[in-house]
Amino acid sequence: MTQTRYPTLIEDGNAVLVLDQTRLPHSAELIRLATLEDAAHAIRVMQVRGAPLIGATAAYGVALGLAEDAGDARLAYVIETLAATRPTAVNLHWALARMRRVLQELALATRREAAWNEARAIATEDKAANAAIGQNGLPLIAAKRQGDRPINIMTHCNAGRLATVEHGTALAPVYAAHSAGIPLHVWVSETRPRNQGLLTAWELAEAGVPHTLIADNAAGLLLMQGRVDLVIVGADRIAANGDTANKIGTYLKALAARAHGVPFYVAAPLSTIDFACASGAQIPIEERAAGELGAGEVPVANPAFDVTPAALIGGIISERGIAAADALAQWRP
Ligand code: MRU
Repeated sequence: MTQTRYPTLIEDGNAVLVLDQTRLPHSAELIRLATLEDAAHAIRVMQVRGAPLIGATAAYGVALGLAEDAGDARLAYVIETLAATRPTAVNLHWALARMRRVLQELALATRREAAWNEARAIATEDKAANAAIGQNGLPLIAAKRQGDRPINIMTHCNAGRLATVEHGTALAPVYAAHSAGIPLHVWVSETRPRNQGLLTAWELAEAGVPHTLIADNAAGLLLMQGRVDLVIVGADRIAANGDTANKIGTYLKALAARAHGVPFYVAAPLSTIDFACASGAQIPIEERAAGELGAGEVPVANPAFDVTPAALIGGIISERGIAAADALAQWRP
């Protein structure tokens, strides 16, 4: 029996269906987003998550929000509402800026249809960019091949297909290598407090890629023991100098990888690079609710992202190729 492969996002020009990631891996359920409020809620509560998927969902949120009224005031309100959902992933703000740029030039009568078309373009481009990231990252994995020994790749959070419209970012080279018949094994860290590692395990199982779930705190030991050949993570915002914000815990993996001479790469589409942000110090870090730690009444801090300095990053893999983290200016639009 073939298992249903649920898409992360599909639409019919009136509504958007997204896979509810708060239910995974226990159950796979599509939920229908029919209004601006539905889209904003889905992003805020992380029914959709992962920087590229948040961007695409926000673009469709604009289209949904203009259903009854596509005037300037409504457009501004819709964009402001979606922009307030999550602060760190710049793909959200990139997608909203793109929607605004395209729509504000148009006559009101054509805006609604144009919004759907632009959201579709963003979703389609995301798939293509991630497929290219897969091909561009593949040689890094292939270079580690030694006979039939599986290549051990470590990742963090979920930067796979679930975090994108298709293919993933950090997992795109993994899928490309798996398709090319290269033997692989992926170390998947739980990623407390939201456990996005379980999403990574779910989609690697779906794709038939061997993997092992570890507690976040096990990563240093595995790196020290020589049981990791390569670390690849995603990104929520890359500053112009290459400093990279990604899920909390990424920085510790980068430090441990550097200490043990293991290459550490970031994979992300160009929509994740924020050239207006000079360095990691300017990246806003989302602070999420204390309740996510499930700690009862004790004082809690819950920063959702950290920043890995460019100096710890071996390279950034994008749809344009691989660049040194301090040489992103070549990709400036
Ligand atoms: O809080 P999340 O689950 O949206 O955070 C996701 C991550 O940090 C991912 O690593 C990042 O968005 C890259 S997704 C391709």
